[in-house]
Amino acid sequence: MVELLPSILSADFAHLADQVAAAERGGGTVIHVDVMDGHFVPNITIGPPVVKSLRKATALPLDCHLMIENPNEFIPAFADAGANWVSVHYEACTHLHRTLQLIAHHGMKPGVVLNPATPVELLLEILPMVHHVLVMSVNPGFGGQEFIPSSLKKIRRLAQLRRELGLAFRIEVDGGVAHDTVAQVVQAGAELLVAGFAVFGAGHPEQDARALLAAARQAAGE
Ligand code: DX5
Ligand code: ZN
Repeated sequence: MVELLPSILSADFAHLADQVAAAERGGGTVIHVDVMDGHFVPNITIGPPVVKSLRKATALPLDCHLMIENPNEFIPAFADAGANWVSVHYEACTHLHRTLQLIAHHGMKPGVVLNPATPVELLLEILPMVHHVLVMSVNPGFGGQEFIPSSLKKIRRLAQLRRELGLAFRIEVDGGVAHDTVAQVVQAGAELLVAGFAVFGAGHPEQDARALLAAARQAAGE
């Protein structure tokens, strides 16, 4: 079952509650929150205080994508703020197993994220621990970038590994998901579709979310 995860990175931050409500009316079922620290990625966004406000503004799960160094230091604060899913970058975690345990021990769903240059095979040991694997289909840091086509084979490989290993983690894709790419990512096996610019970029998130989700469902045969 495909789901649309509107990424607030491209929303109007001065009207965040309204923007999230519109994306929800358009069919978004999880809100994707991009947390950037200016070190792991060349941009700075938001942190636990905004997650705390979002928690009051919507009942949807909040999917916090941590693009930060030393994520362990901040996991308790995201839990306190009301985050539901937390994903950390493979590239940012020296002790990934410990970090995933920490997320789960704080009552949140742990996820792992791969940059475009990082192969899926590096996750073999920790796949049984994760609720979701997030395949970056752009280099993280900014919204509205062009989809990197080689991400498709990583999605296919993850779907194959999930079958072979009898696991149930969900496959999420983030970056450049829009009308021209959504069918390919769904057909490759992604089911959690993050979209920022395609939902918020033109200023009508409800209609644009609805249209993108309809295209995704059609591609999935749902
Ligand atoms: C990029 C972020 C994405 C971003 C995707 O670093 O992780 O979540 O919002 O934006 P679009 O959908 O515009 O490519
Ligand atoms: Zn993201």
